[in-house]
Amino acid sequence: MTPDPISLPDDLTAALAVAGARLNLFSGKVRWFPQVGSTNDLATMLAERGAEEGVVVVADQQTAGRGRLGRAWASPPGAGIYMSAVLRPTPRAAGLLTIAAGVAVADAVAQATGLEVQLKWPNDVYVADRKLAGILAEGAPRYVVLGIGINVLPAAYPPDVARRATSIETELGRPVDRGLLLAECLAALALRYGEINVEDGRGVIAAWRKRAASTLGRRIEWDAGGQSRRGLVDGIDEDGALLVRSGSELIRITSGEVRWV
Ligand code: BTN
Repeated sequence: MTPDPISLPDDLTAALAVAGARLNLFSGKVRWFPQVGSTNDLATMLAERGAEEGVVVVADQQTAGRGRLGRAWASPPGAGIYMSAVLRPTPRAAGLLTIAAGVAVADAVAQATGLEVQLKWPNDVYVADRKLAGILAEGAPRYVVLGIGINVLPAAYPPDVARRATSIETELGRPVDRGLLLAECLAALALRYGEINVEDGRGVIAAWRKRAASTLGRRIEWDAGGQSRRGLVDGIDEDGALLVRSGSELIRITSGEVRWV
C-alpha cells in the first residue's frame, strides 16, 4: 500500500514558493511524507503506476534508506534531506544523470548554505575526506528514480557511518534552513537536468571537473574482473566516464566504485 502524502511543512512551502519558476519540472509536484521505508522505493512505485516526470517524494525519516552497492543509508528523523525524483531522461541524458545530480547537489549546498564541497566520481559529495551526500539512481529504461541523501544535522549516525561521514551543520557550526536547501536542490537539479536532456551536457561536465579539481592526481583503487587495481585520477571524459592513469595505460571506468588510497 502506498502511504498518503501530507501537506508540506510551512518552511518547505515558503522555500519552494521563493524558488518559483526555477523549480521547472518539479513545480507543484513535491510530495511530503513524515516517514517512509525508502523514498526511492516509494517513487519507484509511483513511477510504475505512471507518475508524471518531476514527481518528487520527500521524507522526514527513512526506516530502510538505501545507498549504492546494497549499503544502508542512515536516515534519522529531521537530520537530512531524503528525496527521490521520477525522471524520464533521453538515453544520452540517462548516462550523464548521476554526474549532473552530483553537480546540482554541490551547487545547491553552496548556494543555500555557503559550504563548498568536492565531488568524488561519479557523484559522491565530500568535505575533505568525509562524505556529506550521496546519490542513488535506479530504474530504466522507462523511467529513472533519482534518490538524493544529504546529511544536514550531526545526528545519531551508527558509529561506522559517523567515522566516515559529516553533515552541513558539523562543517559550518551553525543551523541551516532545510527548506531552502531542498528548494535549491530541486532548482539546481532542474537546471542541470535541462542541460543534459536538451543541450549536450558540456556545461555539466565542465562544472563537475571544477568541483572535482582537488581529486585530480589522487591515487585510487577499484575492482576490475575480480582484481583490485590502482591508478591516478586523470579526469572524466565527455560521457562522464572516469579516466585513470595506471603506468602507461589510460583506463576508462564507466561503473562501480573507486576508493581513495
Ligand atoms: C550512496 O550510497 O552514496 C547513495 C545514497 C543515496 C541515499 C538516498 S536518501 C533518499 C533516497 N532513498 C534511498 O533509500 N536512498 C536515496
